[in-house]
Amino acid sequence: MRPSDHTQLASHAEKLIRRRRAVRAFRPDPVPHETMRAIFSLAGAAPSNSNTQPWRVEVVSGAPRDRLADALQAAHAAHRTSVDFPYDDAMYLPVQRERRTAFGGQLYGALGIGRDDHAARAAYDAESLGFYGAPHVAFLFVADRADARLAADVGGYLQTLLLAMTGYGVDSCPQGLLSFYADTVRGELGLDGGKLLVGVSFGYADAAAPVNQISTPRAALEATTTFHDR
Ligand SMILES: Cc1cc2nc3c(=O)[nH]c(=O)nc-3n(C[C@H](O)[C@H](O)[C@H](O)COP(=O)(O)O)c2cc1C
Repeated sequence: MRPSDHTQLASHAEKLIRRRRAVRAFRPDPVPHETMRAIFSLAGAAPSNSNTQPWRVEVVSGAPRDRLADALQAAHAAHRTSVDFPYDDAMYLPVQRERRTAFGGQLYGALGIGRDDHAARAAYDAESLGFYGAPHVAFLFVADRADARLAADVGGYLQTLLLAMTGYGVDSCPQGLLSFYADTVRGELGLDGGKLLVGVSFGYADAAAPVNQISTPRAALEATTTFHDR
């Protein structure tokens, strides 16, 4: 590669990676099928340990998407949760908790939901099981016997997918919340197994929605990264 190609690629990478953001209000317009095929085939270029590609991806649109949203909201109302990857708030370090709190403040602030308004927050959770109005949702599954290593590969696929979407002008929101209803997702889609890691709602952003105006800062480089060179 010539040096000028490198410079160009770096500038594209800066734009692509920094332009991606989680969108939480979508227009109903569908993404053309050919664009979806291009996006998901590009996402398949993600790296994985020994090129094992341990992801399984289910893309849901149209009537199945509507049925699934109804089923998820019914499961939520009935407190019928099921997780394949156990979750515990205690896994977060104090600094991570601070970042979560700051993020929550921004998100709920943009939605006009008060800090201690737990009922409104719960209602927003229920509503978000409708994929924030997105016309499509992709579910990323890991093989049944998966541990953290395989889940990490699928995490790499997730980011590649999100960037591929950004590159094709498609907006997205990864939703860990969807993984709390793994049995409902499997049941509705008629799937036998696989562990559900995350869902990704996608489509085209409602640019005017206040919830899409939040910006999420990142920790300083030194807070997360050490260069061992002397
Ligand atoms: C694995 C994962 C799970 C997430 N789960 C949710 C979710 O359940 N609901 C939601 O609104 N956003 C969710 N997000 C989006 C994050 O809140 C968002 O990526 C983060 O605040 C940084 O903002 P940005 O993506 O706009 O840069 C998730 C992101 C990741 C990577």
